Amino acid sequence: MRQMIAGNWKMNGTLAGLAGFAAPLAAGVDGVDLLICPPFPLIGPMIAAFAGAPVAVGAQDCAVEVAGAHTGDVSAPLLAEIGASHVILGHSERRADHGERSALVRDKARTATAAGLIPIICVGETLAERESGEAETVVRAQLAGSVPDGFAGLIAYEPVWAIGTGKTPTVADVAAMHASIRASLKKQLGDAGTAMLILYGGSVKPANAAELLAIPEVGGALIGGASLEADDFLAIAQAAQ
Ligand code: G3H
Repeated sequence: MRQMIAGNWKMNGTLAGLAGFAAPLAAGVDGVDLLICPPFPLIGPMIAAFAGAPVAVGAQDCAVEVAGAHTGDVSAPLLAEIGASHVILGHSERRADHGERSALVRDKARTATAAGLIPIICVGETLAERESGEAETVVRAQLAGSVPDGFAGLIAYEPVWAIGTGKTPTVADVAAMHASIRASLKKQLGDAGTAMLILYGGSVKPANAAELLAIPEVGGALIGGASLEADDFLAIAQAAQ
């Protein structure tokens, strides 16, 4: 199956840097879907920078409501209107920094889907949860709470302790978690859960990408730090070919 290599710029990037970032990626990578999710103000300019290129542009969050008195929030219909294709939901940084619970993530996924965006729902355990042997239980509970009925997006498994730390789980641990997520998705969604892409995220770099992307049930990667440099992002995408 075609893999997706997605970049999450988090609160990084500048308008001035967009042209230089887009140029090396403009030809795309054969057989691989590319997506970049910059901060909100860069979504429109990034879509323009990639005009005609096989690179999709998405958001890192959206509001659960579609419009109204919600100062500082950004609606899914507006994101779709300006050309965003995907939206990351329930990233562990949103869950930690903004108290987002799984039920809110589920409702945001419904709102995003209704607006025509493809949600990428993030799940993942903390180090304490892994060390106490609860990782799969925690992730299964996050999936049960965050994934709405009839969901047709993507899942990203991101162990919280692997994000931005340079640490990654073993190949065996990633394989076991992705198999567990696949089983949960099939149980929740039936046939739709069989083909759903499950991305891995957490310290993916050019040096470890080939190994991680070759793991069964890994359908691509969600990349933070290494998505900020076009050459690193390209090298990771080439590892997915
Ligand atoms: O959404 C991306 C992840 O949080 C991974 O970030 O590649 O900097 O570890 P990282």
